[in-house]
Amino acid sequence: MSIVGLLATAKIGEATSGGTFWMPENASTAAQGVDDVFYFINNINYFFFALLVLILVWFAVRYRSKPSEHTTFTNDAPVHNTPLELTWTIVPLLIVGVLFWIGMDGYLHLVDAPDDSYPVRVTGQKWSWTFEHPEYGVTEAAELTVPLNRPVRLLMTSPDVLHSLFIPAFRVKQDLVPGRYTSLWFEATKPGQYRLYCTEYCGKDHSKMLAVVTVLPEDEFQNRLGKLAREYEDLDDKDLPAYALNRLYNRCASCHSLDGKSGTGPSFKGLWDRTQKGSTVFTNGKTLKGMMGPGGEFEVPENYIRDSILNPQHLIVQNYTGAMPTFKGQLKQRQIDAMVLMLKNLDSLVDENGNPIEAPKVDEVEVSTGADQ
Ligand code: CUA
Repeated sequence: MSIVGLLATAKIGEATSGGTFWMPENASTAAQGVDDVFYFINNINYFFFALLVLILVWFAVRYRSKPSEHTTFTNDAPVHNTPLELTWTIVPLLIVGVLFWIGMDGYLHLVDAPDDSYPVRVTGQKWSWTFEHPEYGVTEAAELTVPLNRPVRLLMTSPDVLHSLFIPAFRVKQDLVPGRYTSLWFEATKPGQYRLYCTEYCGKDHSKMLAVVTVLPEDEFQNRLGKLAREYEDLDDKDLPAYALNRLYNRCASCHSLDGKSGTGPSFKGLWDRTQKGSTVFTNGKTLKGMMGPGGEFEVPENYIRDSILNPQHLIVQNYTGAMPTFKGQLKQRQIDAMVLMLKNLDSLVDENGNPIEAPKVDEVEVSTGADQ
């Protein structure tokens, strides 16, 4: 099973506990209000369903045509009944009026984030989630860590198509629209892990566009974000490949497999080999070999990898559509180095089927990034 597979089953399986027949677990301040409206509407439905069925059955029995009787229809039946008409107009009007009032009140609460909210910038793109914490300079992928009992405001946008962020346990959902910002806020009330979905069909791998929200008590939250902020700086070069596999690869996973299977993009398996040999052919008919070496566009193969991450539309590998967004500004130089090292050392990090090998042998790990060549 791939890393993402593990993440999806282990973490997400855990997040399904709690909740009722109708509703998932309730873990934010907004959830109770949403549930109340839901049950209120549902109970109105039960009431009218029962009422209508009873009347239906009663009418069927009361007015059924008996074989012995001759029914003659006359046109002197009542055509108008003012009290009845007023009742069926005023009662539903009151009901929808109350529903509108509750709905509008809840909506205004949901769009108006408290001023002291903890800010997170969210980018949803085909097909991954990126969460930036400007207060810590940390970027998370496929996982969003938030503090407990503190309002969190997500400022969201998309570089490609419509996506929609949905966290069922918090009862919040909002579209991400290319070319503009939308926002959403919540305050988590229970520590734990919760599922986050994309709920706007955004293309082939829409169903894989998942993430996990981790809610931590304030001190643990600050610890963890502080650690994430320094993580890749503090690591030894030899730990960078494993860091890239565990912390960065989940943003690539929906398109680039580790087991050789072709996805929306080429598999990472053997990619370093193909790059070194220059055997990659592009949609413009050129081969990588012709562009490498002294005087070529890519003096060392590492530069091609770097270019593919920062400028993915520049050269598109034959038989692929070039669906990749740029990661410019999202990855620091040392993180790009880590990606290059991961690709170089992939065979010692994952097995034949793309499953992570627990402890890669340190002396087998090659640590040159090519930057100094
Ligand atoms: Cu993004 Cu569906």
